[in-house]
Amino acid sequence: MSLNIKKFNPIATLSTLVMTLVMFPVSAEVNQEQFELGKQKAKVCMTCHGADGISTQDPYPNLRGQKVGYLISSLKDYQTRERTSGLAILMQQQADTLSDQDIRDISYFYSVLGNEAGSLSDSN
Ligand code: HEC
Repeated sequence: MSLNIKKFNPIATLSTLVMTLVMFPVSAEVNQEQFELGKQKAKVCMTCHGADGISTQDPYPNLRGQKVGYLISSLKDYQTRERTSGLAILMQQQADTLSDQDIRDISYFYSVLGNEAGSLSDSN
């Protein structure tokens, strides 16, 4: 006759706990300061790209939730005239007024818009 009593296994319990933490990580902190700074600097952009990053006109692209690296490289490409097609001339003039820091802050702002996990409001 064999008794099959399951004993409390501390290793199994610990690994379950670790797996839970790995699978449900606390969402990444938003850098509120840079977000607000970017938002201020992006005021001029909102005429065309919308206050919420959804553009106001069909020919203007949405920026909401775009990858930060893509936003930064696009703005640099307008500055260096790597991007010339279509309505790029509008953006070249805009990009010319921005410092590298402005580009980083504004790009951060647009990349976070729509990804705030409810912690930030973009309506004001
Ligand atoms: C006068 C309207 C206007 C304003 C103001 C404006 N943009 Fe644009 N933006 C455009 C248009 C039009 C395009 C598409 C240009 C093209 O064909 O490359 C564009 C494209 C872009 C792109 C590339 C998007 C993509 O998907 O490739 C970025 C990034 C961008 N704008 C950022 C900005 C930022 C940041 C500002 C403020 C400093 C700004 N824009 C202000 C009209 C505008």
